[in-house]
Amino acid sequence: MRRLVAKISQEIKIKKDEAELIIAALLDKPRFELYLNHQLSPGQRKLIWLKLLQLKSGVPIEYITKKIQFRDYNLTINPGVFIPRLETEYFIELIAKKISNKPKKILEIGTGCGAIAIALAHLYPDAEIIATDISNEALDNAQINIKRFNLEKRIELVYSNLFENINTHFDLIVSNPPYVPSSRLINLPKSVRDFEPLRAINGGPDGNRFIRALINQGLLYLNENGVIALEIDETAVKPLNLLLKDKLTRVLFLKDQFGKYRYLFIGDEKR
Ligand SMILES: C[S@@+](CC[C@H](N)C(=O)[O-])C[C@H]1O[C@@H](n2cnc3c(N)ncnc32)[C@H](O)[C@@H]1O
Repeated sequence: MRRLVAKISQEIKIKKDEAELIIAALLDKPRFELYLNHQLSPGQRKLIWLKLLQLKSGVPIEYITKKIQFRDYNLTINPGVFIPRLETEYFIELIAKKISNKPKKILEIGTGCGAIAIALAHLYPDAEIIATDISNEALDNAQINIKRFNLEKRIELVYSNLFENINTHFDLIVSNPPYVPSSRLINLPKSVRDFEPLRAINGGPDGNRFIRALINQGLLYLNENGVIALEIDETAVKPLNLLLKDKLTRVLFLKDQFGKYRYLFIGDEKR
């Protein structure tokens, strides 16, 4: 194993501990076990080399190992499904802090692999959640994760273009929608542009195509004292402030852990 790790790190130009982490993930073993007389079969060796070559060609490591950690949850992530980001883990933190009434009915639009819905199901054990997506790959992926946490009875997955197949009201509507302005897609890292689904990222000419719909339509689907919580791009603060100026609702823009405006809470949130 030592020789394999050294060879891989040298040939693929990654650090030795990165090579160890990847091999451990591919073998589904803790890293420390790699050196405990673990003999690889020729098939395993071949698979590891193949995956490492994919990594070298820019495939995100999450798609190679098909694993991500989102807060305390080990989730499956399939290629073709948006990889949850650190900012979204912090989003959950802010939802927990800022929303005064524990929501009983929650809608998540654009659930991807189900990370937000699963975190909210744990945060609010009495809540019923509907999680939607327009991508069947995402819904299939979310199903795997929801099942892993035995949440099938509490999280209903619905194929829906925004609110199209939704016909009830909610205490909390949450979404991390596509919000990157089309003109900025070219500046994204190659691994994102080439491998993550564009439909999960592209927010239209100004980035706010989905956010506007989520606000305008979302307000019609809120219960009294309900909240809409959205992840947004920092350039959206000004235009969204303008959009919200005439709506009779409380509005709070919040920064992420890196100091950028990243979240918008609309409704009855704690100050
Ligand atoms: C930025 S990803 C967020 C995924 C996940 N919630 C997360 O935070 O990791 C946006 C998600 O919205 C979905 N989506 C895009 N357009 C949609 C639409 N019109 N209606 C519902 N979902 C949509 C995408 O398929 C993708 O899964």
